[in-house]
Amino acid sequence: MRKQIVAGNWKMNNDSKQTKALLDELLAKRPQSTNTKIVIAPTFVNLQQAVEQAAGSNIIVAAQNMHQAESGAYTGEISVGMLKSINVNTVILGHSERRAYFGETNSILAEKVKTALKNNVTIIFCFGEELADRQSGNHFNVVETQLREGLFHITEEQWGSVVLAYEPVWAIGTGETASPEQAQEMHAFIRSLLRDNISSTVAENTSILYGGSVKPDNATEIFSKPDVDGGLIGGAALKADDFLAIVNAK
Ligand code: 13P
Repeated sequence: MRKQIVAGNWKMNNDSKQTKALLDELLAKRPQSTNTKIVIAPTFVNLQQAVEQAAGSNIIVAAQNMHQAESGAYTGEISVGMLKSINVNTVILGHSERRAYFGETNSILAEKVKTALKNNVTIIFCFGEELADRQSGNHFNVVETQLREGLFHITEEQWGSVVLAYEPVWAIGTGETASPEQAQEMHAFIRSLLRDNISSTVAENTSILYGGSVKPDNATEIFSKPDVDGGLIGGAALKADDFLAIVNAK
């Protein structure tokens, strides 16, 4: 059985106090015996307090990014070792906002992937097409290229530490979600790429999350699709009740 996962990407929201308050509420109201893995990704400066606060619970704390180098003269950046030293063992890589606003290319992401996996850090690898790609019918090609250039260089064993997150850019923060059929169609395509290029075991075992305007009122329908193994949630992850309703929908 593939892991079912609901992850909240808090992006650049919540200061230290707000992080504590939201996590307190999540801890108080979370389902304690769910098979769904619950992940939250607060901003870097609040990771350590979140790890300490969530210790012993079933909430996993992840980072939103990391640098590809293990150390060195990269002012303002965060290394994999720094994350591991505060017990953060999961990282989101390749979010479309990192790609669009911070110049993260497929080849930079390939380096980040290598560094994370070498250090036994689990990756939530994001990718997805822009609106123009979908309108021109190029969305399958774009997704295939992002995966081939950013991720397909890893060993078969390393796939055990990879979660995929398909996030069509046109659905992020727009309130317009992909239809359950569009999500299923793309997820099935991604799984077929894994089957054809890696192995049928990896295809069967890799969790593929959908992200882009998932809300409590559309989560159940999207999550009911056979190749959708959970979600990566932005805006709705900032309210405990909404996020937990989405967790409970998986
Ligand atoms: P929204 O849920 O706000 O559309 O954001 C999705 C996202 O980017 C998660 O990484």
